[in-house]
Amino acid sequence: AVGVRAYHQNVIDHYERPRNVGTMNKNDPDVGTGLVGAPACGDVMRLQIRVDPATGKIADVKFKTYGCGSAIASSSLATTKVLNMDVEGVAGKVRNQDLARELCLPPVKLHCSMLAEDAVKRAVDDWKAKRAQRDARAASAS
Ligand code: FES
Ligand code: FES
Repeated sequence: AVGVRAYHQNVIDHYERPRNVGTMNKNDPDVGTGLVGAPACGDVMRLQIRVDPATGKIADVKFKTYGCGSAIASSSLATTKVLNMDVEGVAGKVRNQDLARELCLPPVKLHCSMLAEDAVKRAVDDWKAKRAQRDARAASAS
């Protein structure tokens, strides 16, 4: 792994003080969970969103990354972007190129920011799948 001194200051800040680290109950119907792994290095990231059913906005977001500093910084930055976003509007708004640029990641670390983009996507997909299931149950019950 690259020495921390080689990282850009923005990375160091998100690395030393990562935002929104933690876990939510994945069985909560309003929580979507994205779990992704990077084949290149074996690092794993879990990112969760909780959507306020009244507003459709992402009211809470948490992540846990078992990986390198760039992956931690990328997920930390990604969480700050999605918080308070409309869940329907997230697609395409958290892009790994943007994360990498803001954090000044070197090319060999691009897959670390890709992990964060994928984790956000999966979390939203999981939330949507849960909602579809719930809607189907409600429809069959009526
Ligand atoms: Fe070092 Fe991913 S390769 S933590
Ligand atoms: Fe693999 Fe960073 S080195 S996620």
